[in-house]
Amino acid sequence: MVLLAESAHTIESAIRASAQAFEANELFYGHGTDTAIDEATWLVLHALGLSPAIAPDYDRPLNQSEREKCDEFLKRRIDERRPSAYITGQAWFAGHQFFADERALVPRSPLAEFITDDYFGLLDGLEAPRILDLCTGGGCIAIACAYISEQSQIDATDLSAEALELAQQNVLLHGLQDRVHLLQGSLFEPVTQRYSLIISNPPYVDAADIDAMPAEFSHEPLMGLAAGHDGLDLVRIMLRDAIHYLEKDGHLVVEVGNSGEALESAYPDVPFGWLQFSQGGHGVFVLDYQTLSDAQPYLV
Ligand SMILES: C[S@@+](CC[C@H](N)C(=O)[O-])C[C@H]1O[C@@H](n2cnc3c(N)ncnc32)[C@H](O)[C@@H]1O
Repeated sequence: MVLLAESAHTIESAIRASAQAFEANELFYGHGTDTAIDEATWLVLHALGLSPAIAPDYDRPLNQSEREKCDEFLKRRIDERRPSAYITGQAWFAGHQFFADERALVPRSPLAEFITDDYFGLLDGLEAPRILDLCTGGGCIAIACAYISEQSQIDATDLSAEALELAQQNVLLHGLQDRVHLLQGSLFEPVTQRYSLIISNPPYVDAADIDAMPAEFSHEPLMGLAAGHDGLDLVRIMLRDAIHYLEKDGHLVVEVGNSGEALESAYPDVPFGWLQFSQGGHGVFVLDYQTLSDAQPYLV
């Protein structure tokens, strides 16, 4: 399949032709972009070796080998339904660049907005907060936290050795090896301290949604997505055990996405505080230590 070789003569026409091809093939967006044109811009600029963070000269002509490179990327995106981040090997989260590949999910959590906008409120007045990122995957949340809270020490856990290898590459990329500590194990298993903030984007997709997911998700590790029939397998353990790892002025912040409804039904007596996001996303709750403590009878 040659998509662009004949028709696209400039960066702009390559992007437009790519977006048309994406729409014609009914791709799924949601691994870092929301629209065909954004996805096409991202892939074409990468194929040309240009940074997506800098506006290009859209009228610049493409030579034959550049068109072929674009075609190679588009072919993988369309034929394999592979998320763009796994083709380019790169993703952005909370304004930072990360290595991305099939060892961990493509970073896309609305927690990026929480970290960059609201974070200081929760950690106000703390000199060197300790933060725990449960289910860290490629490490994007832990690393974004480290940038915002410059004196913090962060532990980041994951059960997957492969995800932690990618996280290690990202920690080194950002030079944060003195402050972001990667630990392998299930949820709280590898930690013994108390933290001012426990933050997590765990697996939370329920069985029905797993069965209905677009092909793009099949490239991501299933253990990063699936969490039992109602999506709450890991969140239940977090709710039960977090009290033993939180400081008395600490907060638990967890993304549960579409499983928020199941969570409210499972724990009708727990007053979850739900965050609102201006840049999209939903299903992130906050509980402070006292609320979690009061809710213990309903969580065991
Ligand atoms: C939804 S991904 C999130 C990755 C990352 N936090 C992000 O926002 O991109 C969930 C992660 O949880 C990890 N995981 C699955 N089961 C786990 C467990 N029992 N304990 C710790 N991590 C687990 C998976 O390996 C995966 O990396």
